[in-house]
Amino acid sequence: MRKARIAVLVSGGGTNLQALMDSERAGVISAGEIKLVISDNRDAYAIQRAKNYNIETEVLLRKDFPSREDHEKALVGTLKDYDIDLIVLAGFMSILSPYFIDSFRDRIINIHPSLIPSFCGKGFYGLKVHEAALSYGVKVTGATVHYVNEIPDGGKIIIQKAVEVKDGDTPEILQRRVMEEAEWKILPKACQMVCQKILEEEANAE
Ligand code: GAR
Repeated sequence: MRKARIAVLVSGGGTNLQALMDSERAGVISAGEIKLVISDNRDAYAIQRAKNYNIETEVLLRKDFPSREDHEKALVGTLKDYDIDLIVLAGFMSILSPYFIDSFRDRIINIHPSLIPSFCGKGFYGLKVHEAALSYGVKVTGATVHYVNEIPDGGKIIIQKAVEVKDGDTPEILQRRVMEEAEWKILPKACQMVCQKILEEEANAE
């Protein structure tokens, strides 16, 4: 049976990539297969994680291209070369332009470490999100998987999961709890759902 071809875009540690690869191996993601990992950071540990799983990796650094547009053209070209059906942003820290988003309309999903619409949009990424949640004093936070459109963190929500904030939390402790209790669970689940949808649409079009 055909599976949707997934590319995961990363910039850092890659724990969400790890959760995706483990889920594919465990059969939680059965409608898709991870074919490619692209990093915009040469030092991202995520690259090593992908190699450990024998997944193809490409490193495309912004600084190696004259403009952001050229960098994105290279990204789009690589994704097309690999016949990618679904792009998963898993800790990918660049904001993508309308040109990129339009090239893969409804085929890009992102994991964000808060309950959107709280603590999201431009400037909210990584630890900053948890710092903001703690300084606001919310008692519940969480994670969201959503489609990517032109508005940063503004696309249609696919899955959300709430996580308790506890007394004495630091941004690092909260980040870890949000990853363990929410991100690593909902990202593979959302991935499977979207892959199934892609295959169904394809079958209906035949
Ligand atoms: C994750 O917490 C992810 O939700 C967040 O960066 C971290 C990457 O960790 N993404 C964003 O903040 C996007 N706005 P990882 O590299 O270990 O998966």
